[in-house]
Amino acid sequence: MCGIVGYIGQQEAAPLLLKGLQRLEYRGYDSAGIAVQHGGRCEGVGATGEVLGAMNDVLGVRCDEKGMEDDAGVRVVKRKGNVASLGKALAGSNGAVSGATMGIGHTRWATHGDPSDRNAHPHMSADGSIALIHNGIIENHAALRVELGKHGYEFVSDTDSEVLVHLIDHLWKSIPFMNFEGAVREALSIVDGAYGICVISSREPDKLLVARNGSPLVIGVGDGEYFVASDAAPIVEHTRRVVYLSDGEMGVITRDGYTVKSIGNIVCEKGLTELDFDLEEIEKAGFEHFMLKEIFEQPEVMQDVMRGRVRLDEGRIQLGGIADQLERLREAKRIVICACGTSWHAGLIGEYLIEEFARIPVEVDYASEFRYRSPIVGPGDVMIVISQSGETADTLAALRLAKEKGAMVVGICNVVGSTIARETDCGMYTHAGPEIGVASTKAFTAQVIVLTMLALALSKDRTMTDGEVMDALRCLNDLPERVKRILDYNGEIQSIAEEYKDARNFLYLGRGYNFPVALEGALKLKEISYIHAEGYPAAEMKHGPIALIDEEMPVVVIAPKDDTYQKVLSNIQEVKARGGRVIAIATEGDEEIRELADHVMYVPEGKAFMMPLLTVIPLQLLSYYVATLRGCDVDRPRNLAKSVTVE
Ligand code: AGP
Repeated sequence: MCGIVGYIGQQEAAPLLLKGLQRLEYRGYDSAGIAVQHGGRCEGVGATGEVLGAMNDVLGVRCDEKGMEDDAGVRVVKRKGNVASLGKALAGSNGAVSGATMGIGHTRWATHGDPSDRNAHPHMSADGSIALIHNGIIENHAALRVELGKHGYEFVSDTDSEVLVHLIDHLWKSIPFMNFEGAVREALSIVDGAYGICVISSREPDKLLVARNGSPLVIGVGDGEYFVASDAAPIVEHTRRVVYLSDGEMGVITRDGYTVKSIGNIVCEKGLTELDFDLEEIEKAGFEHFMLKEIFEQPEVMQDVMRGRVRLDEGRIQLGGIADQLERLREAKRIVICACGTSWHAGLIGEYLIEEFARIPVEVDYASEFRYRSPIVGPGDVMIVISQSGETADTLAALRLAKEKGAMVVGICNVVGSTIARETDCGMYTHAGPEIGVASTKAFTAQVIVLTMLALALSKDRTMTDGEVMDALRCLNDLPERVKRILDYNGEIQSIAEEYKDARNFLYLGRGYNFPVALEGALKLKEISYIHAEGYPAAEMKHGPIALIDEEMPVVVIAPKDDTYQKVLSNIQEVKARGGRVIAIATEGDEEIRELADHVMYVPEGKAFMMPLLTVIPLQLLSYYVATLRGCDVDRPRNLAKSVTVE
C-alpha cells in the first residue's frame, strides 16, 4: 500500500526519487521521505523539534534545527503529508541531499503508526548509518521490538517497519564477519509478514539492497544505472528493461551491476522483461483526472483486450494464456470465482456469462470470506481469481488456499508480472494499461470482456453452435463503437450530476446481468464522492429498501430493453409512487421510459450479455461528475489505496 523507489547511478538521486514518488502516489500519500547516500553518517532534516530531540538522544549526535552535521553520510529528509510537501522540505534542506547519486524513497499509506514525521520512512539505525524503506507489514514486529529492546535498542517511531532496520544493525554488529548483505538476509529470515524493502548503509556505501515477499518490487536496468520501484510506472521514462522480483528474492545492486538471490542465498537467473507501455500512457493526456482519462480510454482498451483473441475470421476465441488448460477448464465440476471490490463485481457478471454460455456451475466469493470459511474446493474444481493490481492480499491468499487443496487456479490480472499473475497455473491479462485512478473503470470493463471471451471459449463446440458464437463475436467487435457513442453523452450526464450532487444517499437497481452493474455503480459513487449508496437486484427492493424511498432518495435504475424490461418498468413505478426521483439507464430510442423517469441516460441497444459493458459507462461518468462537483479528489479518494496488499 506504500510506494517505494530506489536509484543508484551517475545522476543526482534526490530529484529522480522525488519524481518517482510522485508517480507512485496513488499507492499511498499520507507521508513521504527519501534517504541519499553521500558516504558516512546519517541525519534527520525537516523533522519537528520533538523528532529531532528523539533522534539526537538516539543518535547521540548534536544537530542544529537544520540537523546539519558536516560529516557526509546517509542523509534523510522525511515529512508528514504528500510528496509535494516532501518536495518543499527538500527545497528547504539547504542542499542536504544534493550531490548524492544513490538513494531510496517512500510514500506511505499508514498501517501501523499514524501519519507523522517520525512514522514516515526512511527509518534509520541507532547510529545513523543504515536507512530502510518498507512496503508491507512485519507481523512479528512486537516480539522483535521486545527482543531488540533487551539489546538496548530504542524506537523513534510506532511503525512495524522500524524493527527491520534495528534488526539488521544488531545482526551486523553482533555476528562476527557479518556484512551488509548477510545482515539483511539474516534479518529477513527472522521476520514474518509482507515486505518490499530497500536498504542503504554508509558502512558499505554504493550498494543498494532490495528484497520482496508479498509486496511488489521491480528493478529497472539502465546503462550504468539502476532504478527500483513498487511498479514500473516510475521506471518506464528511464528504461524499458525490468526485472520483476519474486517472493523470497533479494537484489544486490551496485553501479557495476546487480545480482538476484533467494533469501536462502541461492543465485536466481532472472529474465529481463520489456515494458510494453509508454510514459504518456501514465500521464493525464489532457484530462483533469486519471479517472476521466481512463473512462474515455475504454473504447481503445476494449480493442486491445480483444486484439488477437476475438478471431472473427475463424469464428472463435483464442486465449493463449489458458490454451493448454482449456480442456481441464471445460471439464471442471465447478468454477469458483474469487476477488475483491470491483473485481468481485466483474466476477458476478462472469458467473452469469459462464453459466449461460458454457453451462458450468459457478459460485462467486469475496476472497476475504472464502479464505476463512473453510471452503469445499478440490482437484476437480477450478478457481478463477480476478485482480487489477495482481497484489490484493485477500485474493492472493484465496488463490494459495485453493492451490493447496488441489484446485487449478486461473488468473485474470491487469498488472503484468504481478504476484497473482505469477502464482496462478495459467491466466489472461486484461491489457487495460496502467490504471492510475484509485476507482477502477477501464480495468473493470476489460475484466468483463475477458470473462465473456472465456465463457465463449468454454462453450464452443459444446453448448453453443458456431453461428451463436459468431453472433457473440460480432457483438463484442461492435463494442468499442457503441461505447464511444455513450461517451458522446458526457455533457448530458454532467448536467444530470449537477441535479444530484447534494444527495446524501443513492439506490441503484438492476436485474440479471445488470444487477452486478448496480453494485458497481454504487461502489464508484461511494468511493469517490463519499455519498452512501447501495446496489440491489430490482426485485429485492420490495423486500426492504423500498422503505428508504422518498423525494430525497435518487434511485438509479438500469433498464435496457431486455427480457426483464417490463418488470423493471414496474419497479420504477413503485419508486415514483413513493415520491422517489429516478435516473434511468435506457436503450436509445426508448421514449416510454422518458415518461416515467426524471432523467434518462441512453446506451445503444445490444444483447443482454453485453449490456454490463454499456450500462456501466454512464454510471462511471455520473459518479465522476457528482464527486468532482462536490470538490472531491477523485484520483486519490480518502481512506483508499489502489492496491490493498494487506488483509
Ligand atoms: C475499485 O474501484 C477499488 N479500487 C477496489 O474495490 C478494488 O477493486 C479492489 O481493491 C480490488 O483490487 P484488485 O482488482 O487490484 O484486486
